[in-house]
Amino acid sequence: MKATITAHRDYRIGAIDGRLYGAFLEHLGRAIYSGVYEPSHPTADANGMRRDVIDLVRELNVPIVRYPGGNFVSAYNWEDGVGPREKRPTRLDLAWHTSESNAVGVHEFADWCDAVGTEMMLAINLGSRGLDEARNLVEYVNGPTGSYWGDQRKANGRAEPFGVKHWCLGNEMDGPWQVGHKTAHEYGRLANEVAKTLRAFDNSLQLIVCGSSNSDMTTYPEWERVVLEHCYEAVDHISLHMYFANRTKNTAEYLALSEKLDAYIGTIASTIEFVRAVKRSRKRVTISFDEWNVWYHSNAQDRDVLAGAKGWPHAPRLLEDIYNFEDALQVGCILNTFIRRSDIVRIACIAQLVNVIAPIMTEPKGAAWRQTTYYPYYFASAFGRGEALRLAVESPGYDSQVADNVPYVDISGVHDAEGARLTFFIVNRHPSETIDLEVILQGFGAATVGDHQVLAGVTLEAANTLSAPLTVTPKKGSSAAVADGLLTARLPPYSYQMIRLSLA
Ligand code: AHR
Repeated sequence: MKATITAHRDYRIGAIDGRLYGAFLEHLGRAIYSGVYEPSHPTADANGMRRDVIDLVRELNVPIVRYPGGNFVSAYNWEDGVGPREKRPTRLDLAWHTSESNAVGVHEFADWCDAVGTEMMLAINLGSRGLDEARNLVEYVNGPTGSYWGDQRKANGRAEPFGVKHWCLGNEMDGPWQVGHKTAHEYGRLANEVAKTLRAFDNSLQLIVCGSSNSDMTTYPEWERVVLEHCYEAVDHISLHMYFANRTKNTAEYLALSEKLDAYIGTIASTIEFVRAVKRSRKRVTISFDEWNVWYHSNAQDRDVLAGAKGWPHAPRLLEDIYNFEDALQVGCILNTFIRRSDIVRIACIAQLVNVIAPIMTEPKGAAWRQTTYYPYYFASAFGRGEALRLAVESPGYDSQVADNVPYVDISGVHDAEGARLTFFIVNRHPSETIDLEVILQGFGAATVGDHQVLAGVTLEAANTLSAPLTVTPKKGSSAAVADGLLTARLPPYSYQMIRLSLA
């Protein structure tokens, strides 16, 4: 079987926004407690943050991290998480039926972001709270001293404003599960008023309004139209979420789901265009895909805690999906989709980053390790920066429930900003056939294979665990070669590859 791709230097989608490789951390399960924060851990720094986790996050070069939720934020009082620790209240978290100690709040999260070299993206509670808390929080975080909340921040140890640019106006407000769920009209109006108020404080803030929680919501995509008609001029991005699952144990259907993601993005891109036309606006709202990942392995084991059968535990094991090789292929396809749709998707956040449906796992008092999904995320974040190329793809395909002719070869291409490297991220979705890949290179000049990394040769179920953390790791590939402007490589069945060319 053969696939032929044409890559031309001048056929570009556009510059990839670095924020495409963002992540998300919620006060949920062990994401914060014993994930990033564990003062008694042997690697803990002066702030109680695990250095082993900081090192892994640094390796991922995560540009932005959304915090503190998620569903959690919709009943969160941000004031509980500031001030002397011993005075912070323990609260019942209604989203995940757990207890929140508030040992970590915005100050600790900011210090952690500095340690990992990332930017904060803060979500505002528009579920149980509203405009007044939103403006107070923004003044606390970004306001000058000499203002009421700026002085409170100073009294809590930080005179300098945190300077947070990105603000999410609530979380999944379309979801009936959300504390303070709203109709599109109720939410759109509130989002517009909150956005106007925050802009009165600082017009340069990047504001993200909630779109759909997934494309199966009955309100999708009318939700986006109505919400944007209320607040189009006041916001910068509309947020989308999607989680992927292989509940029927059908790999072909599972790996086709990135086509559904592509259609979801396309529909909302059109909705944005529609509202833009209605508004006669010059402004172009873009997409913040600020929750995406595989999520289903842990569903059954989480049921009791979520149903309240375990009381209100603090930081229990929740949403701890152990990812397998099949999920790594899925994450490779998802990231390829974001690169191909980087014209409209400006921010994307893998949900989440540590322990909770995450590429990084930790054991309390013990090790931290990389899940299978860590690797495609790592390669995309490390090398998927520059200009996304508009590739012409000729690949055999298969029909699925979500799309016809799903190409066996899923590929994206990125030309770096210096014009010195050309990188391809490739998934072979075929269960049994090795595919001979040919990439016709046009306009790039002389090229040589600089690096070739492969995830393959293990069962779809293979996973990295505490006792066997290196079961699925990338190996150096040997099949890629360039001659006379043609890149060739052999793609084993069910494989992920990163091929990086050095250009003369
Ligand atoms: O990431 C887990 C949860 O998924 C988030 O809290 C919520 O926003 C979404 O439903």
